[in-house]
Amino acid sequence: MKQIIMEKTIRLLEKYVKPNSIIVRSPGRINLIGEHTDYNDGFVLPAAIDKAAYVSLTPREDEEIHLHAIDLKETYITTVNTFHPVDKPNWPNYLLGVAAQFIKAGISLKGFDVALVADIPMGAGLSSSAAVECAMAFALNEYTHAGFDKLALVKMAQKAEHEYAGVKCGIMDQFASVFGKKNNVVRLDCRSLQYEYEPFDISGYKIVLLDTNIKHSLASSEYNIRRQQCEAGVAMIQPHHPEIKSLRDVTVTMLDKYVRLIDDLIYKRCKYVVEENRRLLGACDDLKKGDLKSFGRKMFATHEGLSKLYEVSCTELDFLAEQVSRNENVLGARMMGGGFGGCTINIVKEEAVDNLIEQVEKSYRKAMHKELKAYAAQIEDGTTIVSSR
Ligand code: GLA
Repeated sequence: MKQIIMEKTIRLLEKYVKPNSIIVRSPGRINLIGEHTDYNDGFVLPAAIDKAAYVSLTPREDEEIHLHAIDLKETYITTVNTFHPVDKPNWPNYLLGVAAQFIKAGISLKGFDVALVADIPMGAGLSSSAAVECAMAFALNEYTHAGFDKLALVKMAQKAEHEYAGVKCGIMDQFASVFGKKNNVVRLDCRSLQYEYEPFDISGYKIVLLDTNIKHSLASSEYNIRRQQCEAGVAMIQPHHPEIKSLRDVTVTMLDKYVRLIDDLIYKRCKYVVEENRRLLGACDDLKKGDLKSFGRKMFATHEGLSKLYEVSCTELDFLAEQVSRNENVLGARMMGGGFGGCTINIVKEEAVDNLIEQVEKSYRKAMHKELKAYAAQIEDGTTIVSSR
């Protein structure tokens, strides 16, 4: 089935593929626990999924760049010497932003055509943009024979997001898209970038994504604000503890002592991050022990923190998390990704999945007057070169 979907998606590229085209597949990601911790030097626990972006890159003889977004039926044309971030449409930024990183790294580019197609739901918090960036980074690496290793490509993709999309994201999404491994989660230390694969053995259960179907327009500006608030918290503690570099090094006791009385908002933001890092480490122990119930409880606790302390949830996400919170077939659930819309991630007993979706669809429609979308996610391998010259 999966193979058929992949082939069906790749077939959409056919019109643009030539014998010398490079085709790359790069997946979207889920994150089990460890949200908004990556840009605080903390830990995350993501995995690549069975939904991906595909890029086909074909060399040109001239200096032109022709970008085609197949789903959107849009084309954007520029040249290797003149391209820059664009306002509307914004999808070319994810491709051009990566090309800009190659130029910055001293790689000279000749012209190329790129066709892009994806079966990752857009705006659902599954990091479709990171998937596109990573696919493009691998394609350009092949095209230019630059020889960058996987980690260098991850960092270039992340920089593309900072510089062309304007979101000061952490490294999780791009890292998960590239380094994902079938049936494993990646326990990544975002400070050292050391990582371990942890088998995600949930036989009898499924990962279900419930999509609010809304994308909050404030998501990227609020994201950058959260990042600044975390840095502000660190700056308040540093005079007392010069060894502190980021929230990774901070304890709740320090926050109580040096932040709480000065700025309650910054305190709440930082407290969530400090607690979330600790929660993730506990969740990894749960996985090692096979205690999925305890793991699931931590997911609910993460949601609570993201909603009440970090304030990146929204009515619809809270509703979805609440709806399943007393359902004995659901081990854990929480909002996932940057927030303000997108999906909740749920770990649901296999035989209860269909019923649960049906029930939540109904109650969501009734209470929120919106349609819910639901997807099952399977954990798959990271970026792959599907065909090379
Ligand atoms: C977005 C960012 C990631 C990460 C998450 C929140 O997906 O791109 O770097 O910060 O939000 O955990």
